[in-house]
Amino acid sequence: MGRKNQFGESADLGQSGIEERDMKKMGLLSILILGFGFVSYALVQGGRVDGAEVRRLIEVLRIDPGDVVADVGAGDGRFAVALSPSVGESGQIYATEVDTNDLKKIRSRVEREGVTNVTVVQGDQNDTGLPDACCDAILLRRVYHHFQNPQLMQDELRAALRADGRLLVIDFGTHRRWSRPSGIPESREGHGISKEMLVSEMKLSGFELVDDAKWTNGDYALVFRVTVH
Ligand SMILES: C[S@@+](CC[C@H](N)C(=O)[O-])C[C@H]1O[C@@H](n2cnc3c(N)ncnc32)[C@H](O)[C@@H]1O
Repeated sequence: MGRKNQFGESADLGQSGIEERDMKKMGLLSILILGFGFVSYALVQGGRVDGAEVRRLIEVLRIDPGDVVADVGAGDGRFAVALSPSVGESGQIYATEVDTNDLKKIRSRVEREGVTNVTVVQGDQNDTGLPDACCDAILLRRVYHHFQNPQLMQDELRAALRADGRLLVIDFGTHRRWSRPSGIPESREGHGISKEMLVSEMKLSGFELVDDAKWTNGDYALVFRVTVH
């Protein structure tokens, strides 16, 4: 028989009570540590790009050292910065955005990662902000369906491309349950744009489809070149 404490509980029961409380605390602590680890991982991973996708971008856009490449609608700049080694110091990457918060994110990423060949450009819905005939290649990743004036942007993109320049449009088909991004043409029936509609709009604006590349995450990836300068 174990000793009883002042509350009539045996010392053994008291001991196991303490152990139980300790176990609960330990469990809670482990959950907190795991949760913290998961959130930190998600935050770091959220700022990263998939290396395989970057290699595919370089391959499909045929990027060489010395090239000038624009990432139009660069978001937080993760792809623009990831592409910077592929053009080297003799080349240049333009990272354009219309959103002031994203522009800040791109600038701090460029500074944080110490890249010297990325130029941040503020554009708007009618103007990419890119110089005429500046680019060997232009990337639009999940941006085209956000254009409020697609035809004006196509004119701008055509002007920014050099004679043999490549334009890669990565996008996804329409999600009818997701709301249409504000300001975009009503002909779009949700969030995204079908491949067929995109190709027909691009053709009308003097672009020719030269490649329909396989892509990841359910996106399509179409390469265009300019037919009418
Ligand atoms: C879904 S995000 C994609 C960001 C980035 N390209 C990526 O793949 O991570 C779409 C971006 O396009 C930008 N955007 C919308 N209209 C634009 C325009 N006319 N010119 C440049 N960027 C635009 C938005 O501000 C937004 O950051």
